[in-house]
Amino acid sequence: MKNKAIKILAIETSCDETAAAVIRENEGEPVILSNVVSSQIDLHAKTGGVVPEVASRAHMEAIMPVIAEAFISANSSEKSSNGAIPTLNSKLSTLNYKETIGLFPDITHIAVTSGPGLIGSLLVGFNAAKSLSYSRDLPVIPVNHIEGHIYSVFGQLQNGQAFPILALTVSGGHTSLNLMKGHGEYESIGDTLDDAVGEAYDKVGKLLGLGYPGGPAISKLAQEFRNRFSNLAIGSFNNLMNKYPNGQIAKSRSLIVFPRPIINDGTFNFSFSGLKTAVLSEVKKNITKYNVENSENIPENVKEEIAFAFEEAVADVLAAKTVKAVLKFNPKTVIFAGGVSANIYLQDKIRNAVVGCQLSIDFLTPPRALTGDNAAMIGIAAFYHIKRGNIKSWDKITVDSNWELN
Ligand code: KG4
Ligand code: ZN
Repeated sequence: MKNKAIKILAIETSCDETAAAVIRENEGEPVILSNVVSSQIDLHAKTGGVVPEVASRAHMEAIMPVIAEAFISANSSEKSSNGAIPTLNSKLSTLNYKETIGLFPDITHIAVTSGPGLIGSLLVGFNAAKSLSYSRDLPVIPVNHIEGHIYSVFGQLQNGQAFPILALTVSGGHTSLNLMKGHGEYESIGDTLDDAVGEAYDKVGKLLGLGYPGGPAISKLAQEFRNRFSNLAIGSFNNLMNKYPNGQIAKSRSLIVFPRPIINDGTFNFSFSGLKTAVLSEVKKNITKYNVENSENIPENVKEEIAFAFEEAVADVLAAKTVKAVLKFNPKTVIFAGGVSANIYLQDKIRNAVVGCQLSIDFLTPPRALTGDNAAMIGIAAFYHIKRGNIKSWDKITVDSNWELN
């Protein structure tokens, strides 16, 4: 194994995406050969959120076809190696288990998300990894899901010069600030005390009757409000935002403003359940005001304004806490990763706040295809574990749905 180039099969099933990827070493760096994600969004849209039992069953159906697809896709991108990240492919292969494991003669390691996440979901990927590792006598690397999100930007980092890194990971299940002094060296400096940001977006989406997931829909509505507002005669939206930062814009006219929970509490923690409750009372107020049956029938411009006010509150809190952490820990790099980092408005707000207080900082976000849950990020994180000799055998790995990164 010593001289053989590292080639990792990575598996991720911590929530509602069944994902597998193949990562290969190329001149000492990890390269993504394939990255397959089978999303359960359509399934969970029916119930307005993830039902753990349903998610776990869907993983069971998808896991082997997704792994097979990752091998097929890796084989074809190795043949036409152009360095690009292969596009996500949700078409599932119909190969059976035996045919699937026959597809990877040269895999050297198996990486798997072993927490945090939904236990019934985690166990599907974990047991697939464990049995593949046993049957092929390959070492396994258990990877923390948050660590995976952090490594989703690693193709963009200058090796060794990036640390210390401050990582803000924001997804449906997490809102965490971690300080990273080197590969594998983490310190947790802040976390959400209740809802995660993505969860809050999803709940607000549900309150406004926008379906699941709420994140992209809320963000679109908020942007429509900004576009409309910037066309109003009272002046450009950006000028107003400069004049009245941190939510003070409401003073210029009676706009909705939601609370920025624990923004000035002196910690690096977050709290979003109070914000969600404030949105709920605003929605109820408008149902009464417009005498409509439910939130779906509230006028569109009011929905847009609620989405806007919600997103502004989230952006202010994320930016303020990140800036405070930058001032205290003086990192060289700030990473904004996780499903919510697909939000361009939040990216811009946080980037401007961070670079505004420390010009020399590198601010990195993942490529769009790696913002949500995927297995490529798990394989990249595993690559650095392997380089440090941090590998395990199938009978020594455990799964932990509350695994904290520190
Ligand atoms: O990382 P991810 O795929 O799964 C978890 O680890 O939770 O994140 C999914 C979350 C969902 O809550 C979704 O609503 C949110 O990311 N999300 C967004 C956007 N795109 C996805 N939130 C805000 N704005 C977006 N553009
Ligand atoms: Zn995630």
